[in-house]
Amino acid sequence: GTPETFYEQVGGEATFHRIVARFYAEVAKDELLRPLYPEEDLSGAEERLRLFLMQYWGGPHTYSEQRGHPRLRMRHAPFKIGLAERDAWLRCMRIALDEEVDLAPEHRDQLWQYFEMAAHGMVNSWF
Ligand code: HEM
Repeated sequence: GTPETFYEQVGGEATFHRIVARFYAEVAKDELLRPLYPEEDLSGAEERLRLFLMQYWGGPHTYSEQRGHPRLRMRHAPFKIGLAERDAWLRCMRIALDEEVDLAPEHRDQLWQYFEMAAHGMVNSWF
C-alpha cells in the first residue's frame, strides 16, 4: 500500500494534540512569551498550531480549510520576535517533545530540526 506519512508514523492527531497542549502549558508559564499572545484563552492558538502541524506533516488539511495559506512569517509580523523569544519558544517545544511523547529518536530529531529552522525563520526583530 501507500507508504505511511510522517503524521501517521508518529501516531496521528493524538501525538500532535499532546505535543501542542504541553507546548502551550509551558507558554502559559513563560514571562517573555505569554504577553505576546493577544487572547486571554490560549485554546484558539493551541488549535491553530496543532492543525498547522498536522497538515505540515502529511495529515488532514483542516488548517488551510479554516485559515487559508499558512503564510506564517506574515502572520507573525505583528509580534516582536527576537532571538530571546525564539529561544523561549524552542525551550517550550523541547519540553513538550522530551516529556510529553515517547517518539522514536529519528522522529523526535526530525521534528526538532524542523522546529529550530522554522522558529529561526520567524525572527523579525534583530535589535
Ligand atoms: C500564531 C508567537 C514560532 C506557528 C502565533 C501567535 C503568536 C505566536 C503570538 C498568535 C497567536 C494566535 O494565533 O492567537 C510565536 C513566537 C514564535 C513562534 C514568539 C517564536 C519563534 C512559530 C513556529 C511555528 C508557529 C516555529 C510553526 C512551526 C504558528 C501558527 C499560528 C501562530 C500556525 C497561528 C497562525 C494563524 O492561523 O493565525 N505565534 N510563534 N509559530 N504560530 Fe507562532
